[in-house]
Amino acid sequence: CGIVGYVGDKQAQGVVIEGLRRLEYRGYDSAGIAVVCGPDGTAGSGALASDKKAGKLANLEKEIADHPLPPSTTGIGHTRWATHGAPTDRNAHPHLGNERRLALVHNGIIENFAELRSSLEADGHELLSETDTEVAAHLVERELVKGVDLTAAMQAACRQMEGAFTLVAIDAQDADRVVAARRNSPLVVGLGEGENFLGSDVAAFIEHTREAMELGQDQVVTITREGVAVTNFDGTPSDGTRYHVDWDLSAAEKDGHDWFMRKEIHEQPRAVADSLLGRRTPAGQLQLDEVRISDEDLRDIDKVIIIACGTSFYAGMVAKYAIEHWCRIPCEVELASEFRYRDPILTRETLVVAISQSGETADTLQAIRHARTQRSKVLAICNTNGSTIPRESDAVIYTHAGPEIGVASTKGFLTQLVACYLLALYLAQVKGTRYGDEINQVMDQLEAMPGHIQTVLDREEEVYALAKSYVGARSVLFLGRHAGYPVALEGALKLKELAYLHAEGFAAGELKHGPIALVEQDLPIWCVVPPRGRDQLHEKMISGIQEVRARGARTICLAEDGDTAIEPYADVLIRLPKVPTLLQPLVAAVPLQLFACELATLMGHDVDQPRNLAKSVTVE
Ligand code: G6P
Repeated sequence: CGIVGYVGDKQAQGVVIEGLRRLEYRGYDSAGIAVVCGPDGTAGSGALASDKKAGKLANLEKEIADHPLPPSTTGIGHTRWATHGAPTDRNAHPHLGNERRLALVHNGIIENFAELRSSLEADGHELLSETDTEVAAHLVERELVKGVDLTAAMQAACRQMEGAFTLVAIDAQDADRVVAARRNSPLVVGLGEGENFLGSDVAAFIEHTREAMELGQDQVVTITREGVAVTNFDGTPSDGTRYHVDWDLSAAEKDGHDWFMRKEIHEQPRAVADSLLGRRTPAGQLQLDEVRISDEDLRDIDKVIIIACGTSFYAGMVAKYAIEHWCRIPCEVELASEFRYRDPILTRETLVVAISQSGETADTLQAIRHARTQRSKVLAICNTNGSTIPRESDAVIYTHAGPEIGVASTKGFLTQLVACYLLALYLAQVKGTRYGDEINQVMDQLEAMPGHIQTVLDREEEVYALAKSYVGARSVLFLGRHAGYPVALEGALKLKELAYLHAEGFAAGELKHGPIALVEQDLPIWCVVPPRGRDQLHEKMISGIQEVRARGARTICLAEDGDTAIEPYADVLIRLPKVPTLLQPLVAAVPLQLFACELATLMGHDVDQPRNLAKSVTVE
């Protein structure tokens, strides 16, 4: 989501809307604004005025052009990417507290919002929306009406909240203060002369000031006309880190990166962590709130069919390994465009899982409609709240990647993998094919993945150096086994999409049955090497690598830290953190994304909008 806060001498309405326009790439489901004003709609304090609209920012702009807000120099704004609750007017931000004294905008996920909601309702609070944000608004206001100032109220509320969030709030009684809080979610301060700003990134205020302040975790910041004060959640004074922004506006939107895609690749640790938030109960049970199919119906499922297109299809291929291994249910993966034309066997006991980042892909949608006519249950894995595919499905697991702008999917893919693992574990829990301890162990491993992905990103320069030596390559192959096979396919797809190169992914064992004829002197081959284990996959992979090296190929091996056995067979070795085989796609896909992004950049291509491709394909 995009967040803006302002206090100064300019009209807040203009500054906030302009900031939101700069942040619209962060979310475009709905937009809203709130300002502090006098009770009768004049300047001053004592009341709040706010307006919010579903859909793009233009809808809100039109609304306030027709009905301008009262004059005010203190305001907040938000463009939303829905997580809890559909993208409607009512669910749009800002949200007001019970006494309409406080307005608040929020980005992130408040994990314990159900508990907090019950406690507020028990106190007589009436909540109007389905969002966790409204809970936060009521919570901060409940503290505020105890007689403290907005800063203290925010600190007290933050101490009660769990999850990842950025909150920005204004108090009707205090026209000289905007207060924000941050835990594991972005927030920067813009430092002006007689005015100060808040934003989810510097694009929100870069037209007004290039002096910025970065905040640490678990901090509350108060901006007034005269200054900025930072504290910890417990109220003890703290400080942020000041810096000068020398990016231009377009780089600011991309967090200093040259492409949205590169920015999105770097957002993956956060996106994966967000997609895992709130999935475990305090008692250690896995919970998927959004799966509205009863446990009884899930226990009856005797077959899973996954349908998807493009990158989402490869996430589905990984899901097959996880579902069959953990749940012992037969699982098929099918390209959505082929699915209904082959007269698939579907029954009431078939669970159809449709994976789609955009939620609008026509091929996938048609496949869902076909499955539903056959009375199968459809569960969507989707990143876009309120899109058509979740609407037409029986249940949905949302990924929390945030909007993906680059046409080639990256954080969308990794978060789909997370959702697939969660679904597989959840089915195993419901069906009783795995014990709680084992499920919790995998959850622990999944929760360690953001750190491992970050380790891979920290080594990006090695991949970039490699990309330099492949400008001009005519063909690149990718080999993988087991869960590494879909990763090989995804690596090849990325290269086709971005570098317009001939690239093919193969199951390493299949190589000798045909594709090996393609191998010639110096052909680059990426090899996704499985972790060493009891299953012989690693040894078998090495045999495959030997076969291509004997024919002159140059091998680029992705292998886990400490794997010395691979060394003699790798012309280039890129290390991956040690993780279990099934989860390895979460780290192994990342160097392949970086490679394709860099090679395409070096070749002078438009990485965010490759030729002939569209982000969501709404025709069959
Ligand atoms: C398009 C995009 C691909 C994407 C595919 C599926 O072809 O260019 O990057 O993987 O659609 O999209 P979905 O939104 O359904 O995941």
